[in-house]
Amino acid sequence: MDRKIIAVVGATGAQGGGLARAILNDKDGGFALRAITRNPDSEKARALAAQGAEVVKADLDDPASLEAAFEGAYGAFCVTNFWEHFSGEKETAQGRSLARAAKKAGVKHAIWSTFEDTRDSIPLTDDRMPTLQGKYKVAHFDAKAEADAAFRELGVPTTFLYTSGYFENFIYFGWGPQKTPDGQLAMVFPLDDVKMPMIAVEDIGKCAYGIFKRGEEYIGRTVGVAGEHVSGAEMAAAVSEALGRKIGYQAVPADMYRGFGFPGADDVGNMFQFKRDFSTLYRGNRSLEESRSLNPELQTLKDWLKENAAAIPLPE
Ligand SMILES: NC(=O)c1ccc[n+]([C@@H]2O[C@H](COP(=O)([O-])OP(=O)(O)OC[C@H]3O[C@@H](n4cnc5c(N)ncnc54)[C@H](OP(=O)(O)O)[C@@H]3O)[C@@H](O)[C@H]2O)c1
Repeated sequence: MDRKIIAVVGATGAQGGGLARAILNDKDGGFALRAITRNPDSEKARALAAQGAEVVKADLDDPASLEAAFEGAYGAFCVTNFWEHFSGEKETAQGRSLARAAKKAGVKHAIWSTFEDTRDSIPLTDDRMPTLQGKYKVAHFDAKAEADAAFRELGVPTTFLYTSGYFENFIYFGWGPQKTPDGQLAMVFPLDDVKMPMIAVEDIGKCAYGIFKRGEEYIGRTVGVAGEHVSGAEMAAAVSEALGRKIGYQAVPADMYRGFGFPGADDVGNMFQFKRDFSTLYRGNRSLEESRSLNPELQTLKDWLKENAAAIPLPE
């Protein structure tokens, strides 16, 4: 059988890795994996090769390498990693390079992992949150959104994929329980009582696979994916139960969160404020039903905690 090649950027990472595994696990699905990485010798790249992937070297900062890597592919999964460089301009440039490479290679279906442009909801002149890098409210959202136009203007057959915060952030991104000044454990977010869409990152890849399988009907569409819409109090209750520890929820002002001092705290603080203040829009863009129809194995927070709770770090 002639299988359709899907070139997956970020195949050694979280989002692309989920898609890579979905392709590899569905031997009769009609798709073949081309894993794109800067370093084909890495352990993760070798593991993909050992499972049957074609591994191709390319760099998002080297457009010619991307064009070569997309050549002959039916599909392309396009993702950028803001957290590696924290630069909105660089992220938009990488997104545009992906669009141009997809056009040059004539791919039949691209998925661009993007986000809302938060400036459509809260313009730069609105001082409810600070403007960052001179031109963004939420740089890692707005900069991706700026690259959407390249896919549209070049006529790349694209699905615009809105992702959600990963449950894995409880393990790797500092979203786990913190020790409060009174010595208690609490999940700390500037979300008040608002529910926030979240997802197991593996499910983003599985949903993306569902989109490639559906093909035509998803071209030109924007689709958001989430495993559950969950409030801070619900997160705390679920993590509490899973770990057998008393963990509360502490709602904090967005200004306080922006001042927490970790790299990118201002961007993440603005992001939470956007999700809180424009919750109807943000939640409305991420349908659980559609996510489940793309990926019937979609996990809720409780499902995810069954396998992963033990890895959530707790402060001493
Ligand atoms: N954390 C969250 O809750 C969350 C939620 C939604 C969306 N996001 C977005 O997810 C994005 C990151 O995706 P992820 O979590 O899947 O990343 P990740 O697990 O940190 O992995 C990054 C991947 O990107 C590849 N990559 C990075 N820079 C590259 C370059 N210059 N050229 C080629 N490949 C490059 C890496 O490949 P090699 O190292 O093998 O080259 C790696 O596979 C961010 O932009 C973030 O905004 C995050």
